Amino acid sequence: MNINVGIIGTGLMGQTHLFSLKKIEEERLLSDTDVHIKIRGVADPDEEKLNRLKLKNVKVIDYFTTNPDDIVKDKAIDVVYIATPTKFHKEYYLKLAEKGKNIFCEKPLAFSLEDIKELILAERKYGISTQVGLVLRHCPVVWKMKQIIKENAEAFGKRLSFTFRDTQNWPIGTGLHQSDWRKDPSLAYGGSLFEHSIHDVDVLEYLFGDQAPLSKLFAKIRYVSPLTQGKLEDVATLNFEYEDGFVGNLTSIWNKAKMDERRVEIFLENGYINLENYITPFFRKLEYLIGRKKKRLNLEGITEEYRKHKNYPKMALNTGPYLFESLSFMESIIKEIEPYPGLDIGYRVHEIIESAYHSSRENQIVSFN
Ligand SMILES: NC(=O)c1ccc[n+]([C@@H]2O[C@H](COP(=O)([O-])OP(=O)(O)OC[C@H]3O[C@@H](n4cnc5c(N)ncnc54)[C@H](O)[C@@H]3O)[C@@H](O)[C@H]2O)c1
Repeated sequence: MNINVGIIGTGLMGQTHLFSLKKIEEERLLSDTDVHIKIRGVADPDEEKLNRLKLKNVKVIDYFTTNPDDIVKDKAIDVVYIATPTKFHKEYYLKLAEKGKNIFCEKPLAFSLEDIKELILAERKYGISTQVGLVLRHCPVVWKMKQIIKENAEAFGKRLSFTFRDTQNWPIGTGLHQSDWRKDPSLAYGGSLFEHSIHDVDVLEYLFGDQAPLSKLFAKIRYVSPLTQGKLEDVATLNFEYEDGFVGNLTSIWNKAKMDERRVEIFLENGYINLENYITPFFRKLEYLIGRKKKRLNLEGITEEYRKHKNYPKMALNTGPYLFESLSFMESIIKEIEPYPGLDIGYRVHEIIESAYHSSRENQIVSFN
């Protein structure tokens, strides 16, 4: 059996997914070894982008097209990755759903909650499956933090507080981000919180939301850089309160200092968890304390533990979460189970972000039921 894949958008993420799929196929990482991944077609209206990709000599691709509708209409394609600037996600999602394709859609899903509801309705109507590109849910380090919290719950005692920090050099022509659509509100809709820290809001839900739900949120969002046209936040601070009294904050920054990283501190009655300088998949430090007892972890050990937990075959130990997210997506297509995370989780994350915008605009605490 083949899974025939189409990719729309061949920039940073389109290529990331393409090379993950290529690796999964070439290293035979799927559980069912009779299944083969074929990259049937890739589309990008920017011919230059396609030509540059051709130069990379990716022999697994059947065809290149500047017309994404060729992918939509291609009956042989089972699964499509949408990796375009955010504005176009909804349009492609709806067209692809109507054709019965299963979809991997990059985050953010769309510009509004109403738009995401349309995606959910289309998913149901056409009986397709969706995975959302909230990649940190496939990140061994984040998974390990959750394990640490779960396995030591009794010893840690009550949860007290957390601080999350996500800083990124304005992703327009810097580092891996060579395009500049993120400075255009009509293509991006939001700034650092919407476009990047959406991952952190999701991690907060993943790590903390199941113990006691989020009950209140207060946010301050700022538009400082002249680049933002007053529409794309470059500063967001969110204060969270959960039903059990657990409180914490997320700071999201886009500035011109070259310091792309995440930092997390979690304070518990008898313990402390600290992740420093996390830049997917690497980090400088992950350690936790129970009383005076300190445990420090390394990336290789965590990745190996994650791999075994997921029953994935042996692979390079510095494998990043993008490979794991595609592996998970392909596995769910093979096993006909719902991909994770799906549109429900995507909707929830967007709902929290919209509440943060509202809180900041109205200078009000938002309550969740
Ligand atoms: N999950 C993650 O960690 C992660 C990281 C980066 C970006 N993203 C998301 O992935 C998406 C793409 O971001 P990127 O960094 O790859 O951007 P990019 O600029 O590198 O690539 C986007 C590609 O889409 C193409 N494109 C533009 N308009 C199009 C259209 N109408 N139809 C089809 N293709 C079109 C562009 O030519 C470009 O090649 C965004 O939604 C972004 O938020 C996710």
